[in-house]
Amino acid sequence: MPDNLTRVDGARVLADLNTLRGIGAFKTGVHKPTFSEAHMQSLAWLAAQLPDAGLAAEIDGIGNVLGTSTKSGAKLLAGSHLESQNYAGWLDGPLGVVYALEAARVINPDPNVNGSVEVASWCDEEGHFGHFLGSRSYVGGVTEQDIDAARDRSSGRTMREALREAGLADRSRAKAERGRHIGYLEAHIEQGETLENGGLAIGVVTSIVGIWQYRITFTGEQNHAGTTRMSVRRDAGLALARFCVDVDDRFPSLCGPRTVWTTGRITLDPGAPSIIPGAAEMLFQMRDDDPGVIERLERELQSMATEISAQGRCSVAIQRLRIGTPAKMNAAFQEAIEAASKTFAGGRSIRMPSGAGHDAQILSTVMPSGMLFVPSIGGISHHWSENTADADIITGAQVFVDACRRLLAR
Ligand code: GLV
Ligand code: MN
Ligand code: MN
Repeated sequence: MPDNLTRVDGARVLADLNTLRGIGAFKTGVHKPTFSEAHMQSLAWLAAQLPDAGLAAEIDGIGNVLGTSTKSGAKLLAGSHLESQNYAGWLDGPLGVVYALEAARVINPDPNVNGSVEVASWCDEEGHFGHFLGSRSYVGGVTEQDIDAARDRSSGRTMREALREAGLADRSRAKAERGRHIGYLEAHIEQGETLENGGLAIGVVTSIVGIWQYRITFTGEQNHAGTTRMSVRRDAGLALARFCVDVDDRFPSLCGPRTVWTTGRITLDPGAPSIIPGAAEMLFQMRDDDPGVIERLERELQSMATEISAQGRCSVAIQRLRIGTPAKMNAAFQEAIEAASKTFAGGRSIRMPSGAGHDAQILSTVMPSGMLFVPSIGGISHHWSENTADADIITGAQVFVDACRRLLAR
């Protein structure tokens, strides 16, 4: 058995994750929206742990926590995020942050390792105010105007106000320093069933999907629900419902093997049963790691909109809100994770794409990046019941720390 096995403290990893679960607890999960009190307390908790890992802690002007090292040698950046979706799971994000913290605690004081792990918690990966705001800010992809325009999707609170209340308004935003890091490594729960169904311990991520998002607006005519005969109605709500069904009928013959699409919030205006809705809106998302597939599906959406408008009852407008950039994970990072899995997980690993978005796809635009997954029980995530077996959490931590060592030794 390799002697550095004992250096990862599995009990410490579980204790840290449970401490974070206790901040903003909801059932067995957490409710930790970006810049909520529970989120800010979690950031402060992380910042307080970093000095023990030999890192200077900073919370920057967009809510990223960064732990930086003055140790000589190579530097590997590692992390994930600490906010959650509303009323969601305890591991989506914190797992990767705590693994990074553990890697720093194990590796940074070790005189046999010529290098260090720097820790990051990226703000708002879950997209309460935008998408990947923290990691995009770090790679230089967020302007002051973007921040001016950002609002909490649940409360409408502006991001400026949230930053002020969090005490971050006057801080500068940390930026990636060219050449500082050999790369970025992130761990995450799989949020699917591939590992569990295969009796596997580790997913070696090969690529991360791009996410495209749209606002689709239907305009008809608002009128009285009792006196307007069915044959003359211009019901925007009905047009929207038909559109959703039509998407499900048409997309399967056009999509790729792993394309997914989801309708989010639907609003009917005015949304009263005695009034025919004159307007309706749906948020719509598609994911794939092939932009060519998305282009094809976008053209289909557009022709469906044109067909409905041509029928004369309602018009349809499609607005793109977000363009996804699929990312390939670095080959050497995949090899390091696979080699670590051979040593610490009996080789029970598989190479697989990620259907979820992760900060690693943003970091990969400026440095080599890699990701590993641990199993999710029942494949459940973005729900408070999300969970992973303790033994799998500990195995994942050992593989993660060993992968960090291997990358730093290259
Ligand atoms: C990230 O949480 C995603 O929705 O993929
Ligand atoms: Mn996540
Ligand atoms: Mn998530």
